[in-house]
Amino acid sequence: MTAVSATEFMTEDMRREIKEIIKRYPKRRSAIMPSLFLAQEEHGYLPDEVLLEVAGVLDVPEIWVYEIATFYTMFNTEPVGRFHIKLCTNVSCLLLEAGSLLPHLEKRLGITCGGTTDDGLFTLSIVECLGSCGTAPVMQINKTYYENLSTQRIDQILDELKAQASGAHRTIQSRDDGQEGVPA
Ligand code: FES
Repeated sequence: MTAVSATEFMTEDMRREIKEIIKRYPKRRSAIMPSLFLAQEEHGYLPDEVLLEVAGVLDVPEIWVYEIATFYTMFNTEPVGRFHIKLCTNVSCLLLEAGSLLPHLEKRLGITCGGTTDDGLFTLSIVECLGSCGTAPVMQINKTYYENLSTQRIDQILDELKAQASGAHRTIQSRDDGQEGVPA
């Protein structure tokens, strides 16, 4: 059972884990990113209160934590849906039709970029290069990459995720084993 600290934003377990993370690095500043990943895993996103708590445990200036949390797209400072879609719109993906995939996603989901569907299932964002230019166009949903996308493939993926959310379980291809995977 998780022990709760004096604040609702930082459990004693999290404090302990962050202190363990600090030991891995010569400078406390280097521990900010792994600590933020930990906090985001716990809360789903990183509200200001969590950023302040992380800075406090790391004993670093709050601005250092805030800068990192707001610069990198893997950190969410606002609540996101169960499936956070991050579509790459950098050069390689754009040359291979990512430009048409964004309006397709917006139309299919009924939201504009940056929005979350009313049912809380999907949040749609655009991001810079995901480091998988050879299989462009690419999008990341939670921790899973989906590559060589087309509008048809996107429709299939969204249907699979909706089915997963409604309790139906079907397997689709996963990257790690040469196939894409439905995010946990
Ligand atoms: S440009 Fe999209 S993955 Fe590199």
